[in-house]
Amino acid sequence: MSAVVAISEPRLRPMQETDVNGVLEVERAAYEFPWTRAIFRDCLRVGYTCLVYEGPRGLLGHGIMSLAAGECHLLNICIHPDYQRRGLGRTLIEYLLKLAKIRGAQVALLEVRVSNRAAYNLYMQMGFDEIGMRPAYYPARAGREDAMMLARDLTLPLPTGTR
Ligand SMILES: CC(C)(COP(=O)(O)OP(=O)(O)OC[C@H]1O[C@@H](n2cnc3c(N)ncnc32)[C@H](O)[C@@H]1OP(=O)(O)O)[C@@H](O)C(=O)NCCC(=O)NCCS
Repeated sequence: MSAVVAISEPRLRPMQETDVNGVLEVERAAYEFPWTRAIFRDCLRVGYTCLVYEGPRGLLGHGIMSLAAGECHLLNICIHPDYQRRGLGRTLIEYLLKLAKIRGAQVALLEVRVSNRAAYNLYMQMGFDEIGMRPAYYPARAGREDAMMLARDLTLPLPTGTR
């Protein structure tokens, strides 16, 4: 007799205040310098777009985006290490950029650590370009680390082919 096991796809949904504990678990697993509870609460309070990936056993990732004056800013894109490299990061960004476009954004902006090749590759795949540097922007083990500033023209078509 063969057993049929239902594997549910992670679902993207708006973050609630009650998700913050689970979000912090993912954040702390994924980043060496994670955001604090207060930062996530502030993002919810001010009405930023805050999404979570929900899997069968809990939260797997989150994305935070602000939007004003025709510009969206991707503030945090995070996938739990156990679920990375399955296309979830790309799907999350694609969803956020589509939402931003629908809401009138013409450009998407973000910062990324110069050492973060995984994120850099992902953003390049999503059509972002380097537009500048922010010296000593991030905390680091030894001193501070520079951020690369990236931008994506949202008037151009978004890449297709999301898994
Ligand atoms: C960066 C991050 C969001 C990517 O999410 P993900 O779900 O693992 O990425 P995806 O599976 O959607 O990968 C999409 C593309 O990103 C790039 N990429 C992702 N992980 C990579 C890695 N470890 N090394 C090199 N490139 C990588 C690849 O180009 C990949 O495409 P491919 O699989 O066709 O080669 C994830 O690694 C993460 O959460 N990291 C910790 C938090 C972080 O650094 N966030 C970004 C802050 S700016």
